[in-house]
Amino acid sequence: MQLIDGKVTAAQIKEEIAKAVQNRKEKGLKTPHLAAILVGSDGASMTYVNSKVKACEKVGFNSTLIDLPEDTTEEQLLHEIELLNKDPEIDGFIVQLPLPDAINEQKVLMAINPDKDVDGFHPTNVGKMTLELPTFLPATPFGILELLERYHIETSGKNVVVIGRSHIVGRPMSILLSQKRKAGNATVTLTHSRTKNLKDICLQADIIIVALGIPEFLTGDMVKEGVVIIDVGITRVSDATKKRGYRLAGDVDFETVSKKASYITPVPGGVGPMTIAMLLKNTLLACQ
Ligand code: GUN
Repeated sequence: MQLIDGKVTAAQIKEEIAKAVQNRKEKGLKTPHLAAILVGSDGASMTYVNSKVKACEKVGFNSTLIDLPEDTTEEQLLHEIELLNKDPEIDGFIVQLPLPDAINEQKVLMAINPDKDVDGFHPTNVGKMTLELPTFLPATPFGILELLERYHIETSGKNVVVIGRSHIVGRPMSILLSQKRKAGNATVTLTHSRTKNLKDICLQADIIIVALGIPEFLTGDMVKEGVVIIDVGITRVSDATKKRGYRLAGDVDFETVSKKASYITPVPGGVGPMTIAMLLKNTLLACQ
């Protein structure tokens, strides 16, 4: 079993980005600038957004964090988005999800200028991705493609099972892996909460990508010998033995699955760091 080290790979990508930024600065070109909007004080979202902002500093980007209170109205949020859309200093920005229930997520995502939508969530960019036109790929699937490529994991002709049909991970992942591309050409099965015989389907898989948000859902009896496992889950699970009161759990029961896997991503240190690196890559592209 070989660990797929997202931390090391993300660090390599960030180094490549930092060099490109340095190059731009030497030529007198604009420094990339990413903005992030956070609404409310969800603990996990605050952690993610802070990591994104910190990563910007590390590669030499400028960054702006717009921290809005929980009771922000949809109208106020749309106004903030309009300001970022019009601001020539801002190359790309994200609105951290999930949003408070009172705000219509789809309406918010559609208000973002597609040219600054470095999350790749705007319908225009989802359409371009689906049609294999150049666009911003959503950061988590983009990071997974990058891990598969950099670890030379063959996807062409392989049976890939994606568990979870979210707009952020499962759905785009299934589309990308089936396309004619590097880290593509796979036979993809997209499974979800209504799927019957999930275990039988998983037992046929050469590669399994789990993005459900249910800690330790995938167990050793559900996978075949030699399978490649990509674990996207990262859930805070109460743990009194930890100083902060919780531990981070993936969607994969690492103990039993790693015994059969040829490659596996750990949690933390697998897909998570890659998501941030690919968001930076998209921001650099937006600036270029
Ligand atoms: N919430 C969970 N993942 C993401 C992401 O990739 N982008 C944004 N904006 N919100 C998220």
